[in-house]
Amino acid sequence: MSSTDADTFWNGLYAARPAAADPRPNARLVETVTGLPPGRVLDLGCGEGGDALWLAGRGWRVTAVDISAVAVDRLAGLARSRGLGEQITAERHDLHTSFPAGRFDLVSAHYLHSSFELDRAAVLRAAGHALRPGGLLLVVDHGSTAPWSWDQDPDARFPSPREVAAGIGLDPAAWTVERADAPRRTATGPDGRTAEVTDHVLLIRRTA
Ligand SMILES: C[S@@+](CC[C@H](N)C(=O)[O-])C[C@H]1O[C@@H](n2cnc3c(N)ncnc32)[C@H](O)[C@@H]1O
Repeated sequence: MSSTDADTFWNGLYAARPAAADPRPNARLVETVTGLPPGRVLDLGCGEGGDALWLAGRGWRVTAVDISAVAVDRLAGLARSRGLGEQITAERHDLHTSFPAGRFDLVSAHYLHSSFELDRAAVLRAAGHALRPGGLLLVVDHGSTAPWSWDQDPDARFPSPREVAAGIGLDPAAWTVERADAPRRTATGPDGRTAEVTDHVLLIRRTA
């Protein structure tokens, strides 16, 4: 499947639903970042930007990237309308072929799953290298399928956070795993339904 297929799929997914007026931040982002001093953050696969807007509202300078131009344009529009246009750079990137420039205090990848060609381990390795010393890489993956997910593959396998860390393969002399667990939470879907879901949370700090 080509990169054009991925582009068409993700743009179609966003274009098929109305733009979120007030996209919400992810729970694991809020629990990880609350209390950290603001710095520069990179949001990989930002979607319509609930995380980016929340971070910018707390003083972070955000680079937010997604393969979907529809999602990126929606985020840029919301950022401008909330007076956060200077703080959020929303860019279209296919992370399979390009990675944003810059050095960051935090790189966040929430639910960066795709059925299309995407070398996630390589993307997350690049993310680790884009951290400043002391910076954090937060990878939050699905550990179960929500009833409203676009991906209802009954054979889906959810690699554990430790498996994800091993796949990324960052040198333990310079990157330390600070968190690798599978907490549960009550999630709310786009139509207001709720369900219990599992997250796979991996937090890696660059120490050198
Ligand atoms: C499941 S959504 C998660 C969106 C957002 N992070 C959130 O938590 O709501 C996955 C996102 O990854 C993006 N994505 C998928 N493949 C990508 C790629 N190759 N490059 C950049 N973004 C990609 C999709 O467009 C989509 O917005």
